[in-house]
Amino acid sequence: MFILGISCFYHDAAAALLKDGVLVAAAEEERFSRKKHDFGFPEMAIQFCLAEAGITGQELDYVVFYEKPFVKFDRILMTAMATFPRSVGVFRESMITWFNDKLWIKRLIQTRLRVDSGKILFVDHHASHAASAFFCSPFGEAATLTFDGVGEWATSTVGRASAAWSNGGRNDLRLVQEMRFPHSLGLYYSAFTAFLGFEVNDGEYKVMGMAPYGEPRYVDKVRKVIHVNDDGSFWLDMSYFSYHYSVDRTFSRKFEELFGEPRDPKSDFMTAQTGPGTGDSEVMRRNQYYADLAASVQKVTEEIVLRMARHAHAHTGLKKLCVAGGVGLNSAANGRLVQEGPFEEVFIQPAAGDSGGALGAALYVYHVLLGRPRQFTMEHAYWGSAYGPDRIREAVARAGLRAEHFGDDDRMIDRVVDDLVAGKVIGWFQGRFEWGPRALGNRSIIADPRRAEMKGIVNEKIKFREPFRPFAPAILEERANDYFAFDATRQYPSRFMLLVLPIRPGKADEIPAVNHMGTGRLQTVRREWNPRYHGILQKFGQATGVPVILNTSFNLRGEPIVTEPDHAISTFMRSGLDVLVLENFRIVK
Ligand SMILES: [Fe+2]
Repeated sequence: MFILGISCFYHDAAAALLKDGVLVAAAEEERFSRKKHDFGFPEMAIQFCLAEAGITGQELDYVVFYEKPFVKFDRILMTAMATFPRSVGVFRESMITWFNDKLWIKRLIQTRLRVDSGKILFVDHHASHAASAFFCSPFGEAATLTFDGVGEWATSTVGRASAAWSNGGRNDLRLVQEMRFPHSLGLYYSAFTAFLGFEVNDGEYKVMGMAPYGEPRYVDKVRKVIHVNDDGSFWLDMSYFSYHYSVDRTFSRKFEELFGEPRDPKSDFMTAQTGPGTGDSEVMRRNQYYADLAASVQKVTEEIVLRMARHAHAHTGLKKLCVAGGVGLNSAANGRLVQEGPFEEVFIQPAAGDSGGALGAALYVYHVLLGRPRQFTMEHAYWGSAYGPDRIREAVARAGLRAEHFGDDDRMIDRVVDDLVAGKVIGWFQGRFEWGPRALGNRSIIADPRRAEMKGIVNEKIKFREPFRPFAPAILEERANDYFAFDATRQYPSRFMLLVLPIRPGKADEIPAVNHMGTGRLQTVRREWNPRYHGILQKFGQATGVPVILNTSFNLRGEPIVTEPDHAISTFMRSGLDVLVLENFRIVK
């Protein structure tokens, strides 16, 4: 039985295909269309999934959309009416998109995939999120926690889920509590993202990256706009926000009266600690204010996540937790959840945001609606397309380059480790690309984390991005505990680089290029998930005594992560990368 899940028309569009409940392929549309955060109909991602399974659209048993369009339409209409006449703009804009695309989703799927309308199903947005985590997790039963911007009406849910093999009956997933629009943790975070001079739906990572450079001095001020209860539920004072009636502004004039002037998006963010300094103390002082505000916003977010988790734990009495929704990508909040939260184990799926809804919707239909047994756990994130030696040779020849070919992996890995130790920055392209926003060793840029200067080199010469942006330490799972105080074998979020933890005292100086103010957003690597990447870490560890490498996504600022060999070669040629490794081919500049 083939079930295709689709998410689109809001944030990141994606497709995921199940064969008898086992994931065959999953990808975000941006990787193929090359439009960052592409939210259009995921035509190319769907074609890729079908090709991977060797089937046509007509052979699909079900096509599932990740939310219920009519319920969402109702929310937009109701909100527009409640805030009329301020909402005229947002109402007109939404009506146009809805009539162009959303109300016609069924017809669109029918004609594009040539499937009968009876095969097209819709699953609630937050049920899709919760299912994307629980049915990919290894847990027999778990509490679920979802939080994002907004689905139909829900912005955050608490649920409980169990598998047939643990409850002796049917697979079950029930959302038992919810918070509703406009009270949304995702939209709260996005409003501050815009205020701090970053793009909404893209710059949230940057707010998180800024936060460690500040002190949470303004928590009391932030709490004026968001009132938090003991159980983690909260209430936004809507007089500070405008996303419920404006298309281009997320916060109101009153918000500016409270927090001052928004940060100029075109200005560079720098404080005394980020470097490089301009020596202009007024600029530094002003930026320190924004860093302190970012720290305060992040702290309140973490408190809400922790309180909600404690509430979900008390309410369900369960020991394991599955997290999904865009806020699930907040790795610093996840770090606190794992360290201070009440749950023994936490699972977060790599595509925790809206792209993951495609997978969750398909899993929900298979396991809950059809009641089929579970046989899949997501152990790794490599569900995209791979490219063989012929494609690589063609791409190399087209670019007029010469590549050295290695007959076996060991020799290739030795060579790459020599390059790393020599201070080279390497574009590393292997196997199937990653599902979700993180590069996890198949489309990565890698470098020596022991060299403090690497942070500046990779940010400025390779990726052309802001100097304060951090890099991730990839580490052998079996050595993770030497650098971070946690049990890596029991925690899934670190496999998918969704966990920020403090680096053990004394160890931070060993790996300065991946030390972000004493913390690291680590990725743990086990041989069985990715033997070549593991081999690099192991041999680099033998050569240097440090089983850690710097890993960042293989792309330039503002571009999606590379997909094909041609993208990798183009990025290599346009950046300061020293070496490019495409499977067993090595190219030097
Ligand atoms: Fe969502």
